Parts: sequence; C-alpha cells; structure tokens
Amino acid sequence: MERYGNVVLLAAALFAAAAAVGMTTAAPVCSASDRAALLSFRAALNEPYLGIFNTWTGENCCVNWYGVSCDPETNRVADVILRGESEDPIFEKAGRSGYMTGWISPAICQLDYLTTFVLADWKAISGEIPPCIASLPRLRILDLIGNRISGRIPADIGQLSRLTVLNLADNQIYGEIPPSIVNLKSLMHLELGNNYLSGGIPSDIGKLSMMSRALLSRNQLTGPIPASLSGIYRLADVDLSMNRLTGPIPSEFGSMAVLSTLNLDSNQLSGEIPSKLLGNWGLNILNLSRNSLSGKLPDVFGPKTYFTAIDLSHNDLRGPIPRSLSSARYIGHIDLSHNHLCGPIPNGSPFDLLESSFLEGNDCLCGTPLQTTC
Ligand SMILES: *[C@@H]1O[C@H](CO)[C@@H](O)[C@H](O)[C@H]1NC(C)=O
Repeated sequence: MERYGNVVLLAAALFAAAAAVGMTTAAPVCSASDRAALLSFRAALNEPYLGIFNTWTGENCCVNWYGVSCDPETNRVADVILRGESEDPIFEKAGRSGYMTGWISPAICQLDYLTTFVLADWKAISGEIPPCIASLPRLRILDLIGNRISGRIPADIGQLSRLTVLNLADNQIYGEIPPSIVNLKSLMHLELGNNYLSGGIPSDIGKLSMMSRALLSRNQLTGPIPASLSGIYRLADVDLSMNRLTGPIPSEFGSMAVLSTLNLDSNQLSGEIPSKLLGNWGLNILNLSRNSLSGKLPDVFGPKTYFTAIDLSHNDLRGPIPRSLSSARYIGHIDLSHNHLCGPIPNGSPFDLLESSFLEGNDCLCGTPLQTTC
C-alpha cells in the first residue's frame, strides 16, 4: 500500500513537471536575429490602409505579429504569410482588399528557418526577387502572386530542394526560365503565368517528377513544347496558352495517366492533332484554339469520351467532323468554328443543341444547327 502511494506521488510530481515544461514551450520567444530581419523586411514595405504592420511591435515576434509564426521546437520564424486577398477580419473591417508598395528586402533571407513565404496579391510591390532567396534551405512555399515584381527569376532557384510551390504569377518578371528550375525535385505546383518570360521551356523539364500543375500561360515563351513533360506521371493540369510556342503537340501527351486539363491555345503550334491525345479518356478540358493546327480531326471519339470543354476553333483543320463525336458520353462545350471543315454535321448530341456560332466560319459544313442543307 505504501509503495502504491509513492508511485502516485511520483506520477503527480512528473505530471506537474511536464505541465511546467509545457507552459514554457507553449509560447515561443523569437530570436533576436529573426526579429531584426523581420523589422528590416518591414522597413522596405508600405501598407497604408489596413495597418497590418502595426502588430509588428514588441520583443516577441512569435506572438501576435500579423502573418508571422514560429516553429515551437526551435523558436525560429517558420512562416511569413501576408495575403492581400483574405477573409481575415482586418480586411472586412477595412472594407477593402490589400494594397502595398515597396520591395522585398534581402533581409528576408536571414530567416534561415523559413519554410513558407507568402507575399501575395498586394498589387503594387515592385522591385526584384532577392537572389539570396535561393539560399533558404528549408523553403517549401514561395508565393508572390499578384504584385508588380520585375527582374528575373533567381538563377540559383534550383537549389531549393524542398520547394513544393513556386508561384510568381501575375507580376512583371522577365528573362528566361532559369535552367536550374528542373532541379526543384520536390516541386508540385509551378505557376509563372502572366509575366514577360521569354525563351524556351527547358527541354528537361520532365525532371520535375512531383509536378502536378504547370501553369505558364500569358508569357512570351518560344520554341517547342518539351515532350519530356509527358513523362511526369502526376501532371494533371498544364496551361501553356498565350505564348509563342511553335512546332507540334507531342503525341506522348495522349498517354499521360492523370492529365485532365491541357490549354495550349493562342500559340503558333502546327502539325496535326495527335489522335492519341483525343483518345486520352482522362482529358476533360482541351483548348487548342488559335494555333495553326492542320490535317483532319481524328475519328477516335467514343463512349468513354468526356469533355467539359473542347475548343479547336481558329485553326486549319480540314475534312469532315468525325461521326464518332456524337457517340461521346458527354461534351459540355465544343467549338470547331473558323477552320476548313466540310461535310454533314453528325446527328444528335452535342450538335443538336449547339449554337451555330461554334461551327461557323468553316468551308462547307451542312445540316443542323447550321442553316445550310446538305
Ligand atoms: C480557348 O482559348 C481561346 C483563345 O485563347 C479563348 O478565347 C477561349 O475562350 C478558350 N475556350 C474555352 C472553352 O475556354
């Protein structure tokens, strides 16, 4: 009995000790160097409407500094997440979205435990991405979408071996996509759309084996679509639209296991549409509009065909509309306008309910829904 009592006492003492330790680790205290780095980062930015940086006061940057959080194990700053489009009460109270001027100070690179850096949708942050960002060894998320950032993508970006998200879309970034980008072996989301990027897409981009989204639309990219992209097993969403890409659509895209969206519209692509591509049953959204694709439309559609949208308008396609199209399981939207198609429009779905504008501007299509009889 006495022994039992001692065990209870010992357990109670251990519990109290653990609780005391828990209390000291619950609120991390930021390191003086992290705090100094954050303050110099802040000094280069001006956020006039919401006052988010008014919270960046006091010694402990780990507590109540808007957008800052620390790793409880190391007490080091792990996340800086500042979004200009947010449902945070601070935005609702101000009744407006974010606006910030200034630039990204290289002081951010002194936060060497940083894993997430988001400075997104502030509309007016300008200047360049500090090249030293490539030396943050723990960085997993770099999201600078929706600003006015210019300059080039840092040449050494490929050093960020843990990076999973690189989002630089909707900025004014120019120059080439650095060749080192293919070394981002953890990268899942690559979003560089709506910038001024030029030059080619690296031919060995297929090395990005974890990538599921590659969104590079609205740039000035030239050269061919690398066939190596088709070797990325997880790739589901590819948008290379509104560039200046030339050459054929690699037929290997037809064998991609999880590809569901492929937007290649508004480029200068030529050659035929690979029949394997239209026979890839997983593909649900395909936009090849406004290119120079020629040849006949392959007759490969069938009961497994399921397109939410297929847009082949404004090309040089010839010959008839394949009959097999009307055997598709589902076609939500189809646009074949402004080609050189000719012959009878197949009966039934999806053509019986289609607006004639999605067939207009061809050479000699006839039947419903056009007014011409065959
Ligand atoms: C396909 O791309 C064209 C040109 O870029 C665009 O105008 C059209 O709306 C797109 N089609 C669909 C279905 O999204």
